[in-house]
Amino acid sequence: MNRLYFGDNLQWLSDRKEFPDESVDLVYLDPPFNSNADYNVLFREPSGQVSQAQFHAFTDTWSWADAADTYHQFIDTCRNVAVVELMEALHSFLKHSPMMAYLAMMAPPLVELHRVLKSTGSLYLHCDPTASHYLRIALDEIFDAKNFRNEIVWKRSSSHADIKQGMRRCGRIHDVLLLYAKSDTAIWNPVFTPYDEDYVESMYRFVDDQGRRYREGDLTAARPGGDVSFEWRVKRRINSNERWISSKWE
Ligand SMILES: C[S@@+](CC[C@H](N)C(=O)[O-])C[C@H]1O[C@@H](n2cnc3c(N)ncnc32)[C@H](O)[C@@H]1O
Repeated sequence: MNRLYFGDNLQWLSDRKEFPDESVDLVYLDPPFNSNADYNVLFREPSGQVSQAQFHAFTDTWSWADAADTYHQFIDTCRNVAVVELMEALHSFLKHSPMMAYLAMMAPPLVELHRVLKSTGSLYLHCDPTASHYLRIALDEIFDAKNFRNEIVWKRSSSHADIKQGMRRCGRIHDVLLLYAKSDTAIWNPVFTPYDEDYVESMYRFVDDQGRRYREGDLTAARPGGDVSFEWRVKRRINSNERWISSKWE
């Protein structure tokens, strides 16, 4: 308990005395995203100004030259045949690409994390759309697709376009949290926290005739999954009952 492990995660995880099977309750993983960038820690002057001083925090660029040994060692030693077949399949079309090098770095610790998780445990993997689709396939194989729980979208900023930077696409504004359970006995504690007063004041500005606060929000489609035939629908009090009505009805 309360121990911080410094260094390569796979090296620590492979130590079965330190990390026996089924010994961990929860994993929150925030690895590099394969963003093809280097990250530095910038220092600030006492004035708060960003100083010239900085140091290299980590590199998130991956090359096959660095990953080939890790890949082949994984293929030769991993006992999960399905995962080995998947990595070989990915290798067959990603070839010696930086993405394959990245996946070769990610797969071994993910297999170990599955081993150390208790059957009541869960894993959150923080990534972004750069590699989330490949990581999801790998986790489907390592954890079994039936143990997939959520793809949580972490909206990092409100919409913005990178047109000024010459981008010919929409702004990229979200990260992804992939949630997998180890088994269907995984612990799930829904967390509800009361809104603080300021939040209620600022966000729920309207009060209905029964004194209940409410906020205005975007309209949903008529049916789950969307139904373009109707423009919108809202809840209305008809006599004493509340009912969903759609634009057509009105
Ligand atoms: C996205 S950053 C994590 C940021 C951090 N969670 C935060 O919120 O500030 C990814 C981190 O993974 C670390 N990392 C990369 N490869 C690793 C490895 N094999 N074992 C352990 N940590 C690694 C990098 O040094 C970097 O600090």
